Amino acid sequence: MIKNDLLLKALKGETVERPPVWMMRQAGRYLPDFMKLKEKYDFFTRCRTPELATEITVMPIRQIGPDAAILFSDILVVPQAMNIEVQMKPGVGPWLPSPVRSLEDVQKVHVPNVHEELQYVFDAIKMTKQELNDEVPLIGFAGSPWTILCYTVQGKGSKNFDLAKKFCFTNPAAAHALLQKITDTTIAYLKAKVAAGVDAVQLFDSWGGMLSPADYQTFSWRYMQQIIDALKGQVPVIAYGKGCWFALKEMSESGAAALGVDWTCTARNARYLSGGSITLQGNFDPSRLYSPPAQIRKMVHQMIDDFGKDAYIVNLGHGILPDIPVENARAFVDAVKEYK
Ligand code: CP3
Repeated sequence: MIKNDLLLKALKGETVERPPVWMMRQAGRYLPDFMKLKEKYDFFTRCRTPELATEITVMPIRQIGPDAAILFSDILVVPQAMNIEVQMKPGVGPWLPSPVRSLEDVQKVHVPNVHEELQYVFDAIKMTKQELNDEVPLIGFAGSPWTILCYTVQGKGSKNFDLAKKFCFTNPAAAHALLQKITDTTIAYLKAKVAAGVDAVQLFDSWGGMLSPADYQTFSWRYMQQIIDALKGQVPVIAYGKGCWFALKEMSESGAAALGVDWTCTARNARYLSGGSITLQGNFDPSRLYSPPAQIRKMVHQMIDDFGKDAYIVNLGHGILPDIPVENARAFVDAVKEYK
C-alpha cells in the first residue's frame, strides 16, 4: 500500500481532496545537490549506478515534495541497449556518433535481451522502492518509438528533426522496421520495469508534435498504441505528447489511464478533444516558473479550476528548465497542496 496514493487515485479517475502534483524532469539541474553529483560523475554513470540513480530520484521528493517520484534515467538508454552508441556531451546534449540512416543501418540494430543490457535500471528501481518506503508511487518511463527514432536518425537534438523526417518519408520501409524494433525493445523494457516495481509508466512523445496529424498516426501513434496494449492490466500508462493536442481523441480511446498535454492547448479544449472523462496531466508553461512565487501560486490555482480537481494531475507541459530557482519549483508544488 502506497501512503500517498493521490496519483494512483487520479489515474483511476477517483475523487480526490486535491489533485496530485509532480514535475517532468523534477530530478535535474535546477537542484543544487544534483549539480554537486554532476561534477563528480558523468551522465551515464549516474544512470548506471543504482545508488546514484536512487539518490537523485529521491532528491526532489525530500526537497520539493511532489506526490510521485520518477526514476532518474534517460529515454536514450533504450537505443544504447540496441547497440546504437549514445553519448551525453556537456553543453551539447545527446550525441550519437553513428546515426541510423539506411536499411543496412537498421538491420544492424539489435532487439536486446533487456535483462542483459538494462539490468542496472531494474536494480535502481528496486533500490529506489526500498528508499521511498511506499511514501509515494514511483513512475517508470520510456520515450515513444518516434521520439527515439528522432535521436537515432538525427544523431543529436534538433529544432525540427529534419533528417529524421526525411528518413521516414524517403525510406518508409526502413523507418517502420526501426520503429518496430524500438517498440519491441520498449515493451520488454517496460514490462521488466513493472516487474521490478514501478507503480505507473509514462511514455514521452516529446517530438510527436513535429509530425502532421496524418503522419503522427503512421509514424508515432500506431507504435504508442502497441506499447499501451502490451501493458494492459499491468500498470496505468500516462501518454504524453508534446504538441499532440490534435491526437487527443485517438489517445483517449487507447486504454491509456491519462494523457499529458502541453501549454499550447487550453484545459477546456483538452477536455473537449479527449471526450471529457479521461484523466489529463499538465500543462503549466515551464517558462512560467520564472514568475515570482506569488504569481505562480495564482496561476496554478487558476489551472486547477480550469481542469477541475478530479481526473487531473498537475504537472508542467514539458520538463523543468535548468535555471529555475528552487523556491519557484517549491511554490508550484505548494500551490497545489494549498488548493481548496
Ligand atoms: O524527470 C526526471 O527528472 C527523470 C529523469 C529524466 C531525464 N531525462 C534525466 C536527464 C527523464 C524522464 C528524461 C527524459 C528525456 N530525455 C526526454 C523526454 C522528456 C523531455 O524532456 O522531452 C528526452 C527528449 C530526453 C533526451 C535528453 N536527455 C536530452 C535532450 C538531454 C539534454 C538536455 C539538456 O538540456 O542538456 C538529456 C540529458 C538529461 N536527461 C539530463 C537529465 C537530468 C541533463 C544532463 C545532465 O544531467 O548531465
